[in-house]
Amino acid sequence: MTMILFSGIQPTGLLHIGNYFGAIKNWVDLQKKYPCLFCVVDYHSITVPYQIKQMSNRVLDLAMDLIACGIDPKKSILFIQSAVPAHTELAWILSTVTSIGDLNRMIQFKEKSKEHSENINAGLFNYPVLMAADILLYKAQVVPVGEDQVQHLELTREITRKFNKKFGKTFPEPKPYLTSGARIMSLTDDKKKMSKSHGEESYIALSDSLKTIEKKLAIAMTDPARKRRTDPGTPKKCNIYHLHQLVSNKKDLEYVIDGCAKAKIGCLDCKKLLAKNLFKELKPIQEKRKQLEKDSEKVKKILAQGAEQANKIAKKTIAEVKAKLGLA
Ligand code: AMP
Ligand code: TRP
Repeated sequence: MTMILFSGIQPTGLLHIGNYFGAIKNWVDLQKKYPCLFCVVDYHSITVPYQIKQMSNRVLDLAMDLIACGIDPKKSILFIQSAVPAHTELAWILSTVTSIGDLNRMIQFKEKSKEHSENINAGLFNYPVLMAADILLYKAQVVPVGEDQVQHLELTREITRKFNKKFGKTFPEPKPYLTSGARIMSLTDDKKKMSKSHGEESYIALSDSLKTIEKKLAIAMTDPARKRRTDPGTPKKCNIYHLHQLVSNKKDLEYVIDGCAKAKIGCLDCKKLLAKNLFKELKPIQEKRKQLEKDSEKVKKILAQGAEQANKIAKKTIAEVKAKLGLA
């Protein structure tokens, strides 16, 4: 049987190269291998405080970004979670086979309840159950996620086993698909993951111009051991070099390693080349994005079609699940 791929992403604002190299670029490649569903998970994003007025734009913006990056609506189903009611329906059912003890152990719940201590709501607690419903509704088996989501996937597998044991085999056990370790670190602190929440200087947005990228890189952290122009550097320990590896060809990489280790080039030369190569990767995405902005109706239509396709599959699963539960 062909395996189905499902992944979700929250509409929480602009995307950075961490999102792109850590997640979306892999999704784009995986479209060649699996039938895919990609979901803008708006119901997940309302579990923490958000700007109500901005929400619908954020959802549309994210959909445009995904298409601009290469998610192909002709190949894959791209849709908005709240447009498919079966997600919350199945989440309720799955919550009856989910242990509170397990939910209590979720690291993300602990972190987010600390961060939003004024609003520790049941939605935040049940977040992983909705995630399990997202996946199981389509009987997906391949779930590309970052490391931070692996614990949620383990819980999904546990929920799957409990459901199947209690009501008869219904769902295959999904597996996390960990992308080849692309963990993009912050420009200003190479011990932290790149994230929107650490300030504009710490990330490169997919929408950044060459000038902006150059500026951000100019002040970005390098190998801490290299203090002066004449000190040889150790590229393998340098965040800038890690970024080079994502976008630079063999010739440029050799130039950078040799130049840095022998102090033939300075950090600024290395960063300039990185900015150029990074922008080369981002430019076609930015151009496609501009085209889509001009035709947001087309994007809305793509999402509506995606929801229609997703609904069709989801309704079948819900019917099967209800029958197994002895419900109408
Ligand atoms: P977030 O908006 O943080 O929920 O991230 C959306 C997706 O991008 C998830 O699959 C994350 O694992 C991935 N991601 C976010 N930040 C990074 C990063 N700095 N490096 C690699 N992947 C990331
Ligand atoms: N929780 C995931 C994140 O923050 C997003 C997500 C929601 C998801 N539902 C999913 C990812 C289902 C994979 C499968 O990154």
